[in-house]
Amino acid sequence: MKVNGKHFRSIWLEGKKIKVIDQRNLPHKFEIEELTNLEEVITAIKDMHVRGAPLIGATAGFGMYLAVKKAEEKKSEEIIEESAKQLIQARPTAVDLKWTVEKQLKEIKKGNSFKEKKEIAFKTAKKITDNSAEQCRKIGEFGVKLIKEISEKKKAKTVNILTHCNAGWLACVDFGTATAPIYKAQKNGIKIHVWVDETRPRLQGMLTSWELMQQKIPHTIIADNTGGHLMQKGLVDLCITGADRVALNGDAANKIGTYLKALAAKDNEIPFYVALPSSTFDLNLENGKNIPIEERNENEIKFIKGLNKEKITEVLIAPEKSSARNFGFDVTPARLIAGLITEKGICKLDKKSILKLFPEFKKRLINDLNE
Ligand code: MRU
Repeated sequence: MKVNGKHFRSIWLEGKKIKVIDQRNLPHKFEIEELTNLEEVITAIKDMHVRGAPLIGATAGFGMYLAVKKAEEKKSEEIIEESAKQLIQARPTAVDLKWTVEKQLKEIKKGNSFKEKKEIAFKTAKKITDNSAEQCRKIGEFGVKLIKEISEKKKAKTVNILTHCNAGWLACVDFGTATAPIYKAQKNGIKIHVWVDETRPRLQGMLTSWELMQQKIPHTIIADNTGGHLMQKGLVDLCITGADRVALNGDAANKIGTYLKALAAKDNEIPFYVALPSSTFDLNLENGKNIPIEERNENEIKFIKGLNKEKITEVLIAPEKSSARNFGFDVTPARLIAGLITEKGICKLDKKSILKLFPEFKKRLINDLNE
């Protein structure tokens, strides 16, 4: 998508150089980082230079390429498995990470020499990244139908969409998951307005607003607890969020606070949709009960970062000695979700419908049982 009129993806190649947008200082500073070794990739994922389930996955794909490069230099096969473990542990909730690393391990095994393995890992990482962008583009094509229907019902008056966190192109490779239908609606000339939850504590809502601002989409930032009130007042027509891990029954883990929005949407009979690519399904989980929830450093809650006289500064907002707990995600039960917007279409919330839309999952489930 566009940054100051120029097209960017959140991760890209310049020859064999791996470039990402370092998102830590956005929306104030647009900074580009090159990832040159596995350690840098792990730090970038852990410390959220890159974030969002699909982008974490794509970055880890290149992390595996760098791991094979290191294995070649040190002439040690073990480095590959060890690096895979380290990468998977970097962030626990976003399942795209595990999916990519396991896919890479499978592909890398096909190479007979380090050189071959390295080439395979590079090609696979590139393919995963390109596919990820294409999946989001398709999510947009399917999701826009929902917006169009509402717009027609409202006789072309503005459709108000509420989103939580950042499930935009910054969190993916391009287009975003939750935002792809919004971008497509704009392209199709549908009048839209987006309510953007600020999303404490890391304020990913500011990333969403920055994206929407760049694309000239009307939007308004709201404090996290505002959504319910807006819904009661008839100011929200549709909710779309992303997801970090979705179980086979449709229970969906997403940024902390998503569950409360889904509850409020149900109470107000507002459709609540979750947009995700197939790599965000966890085929090992029948329901969301066992989705690991990342707990991050308490300082992300006690301190807040912003721009002060052109300098990015962090300030303490809590009593210094108070303790805080920082749960990164929550699980929205499938019963609160109207549908899953995927690259293959919009899917109902049950295992049968998910497997019908993704018959390839059945094969993977059987293979896993046989392994
Ligand atoms: O902690 P983050 O910023 O990596 O959280 C991920 C997210 O941005 C959201 O939960 C998002 O809605 C899913 S990723 C498209």
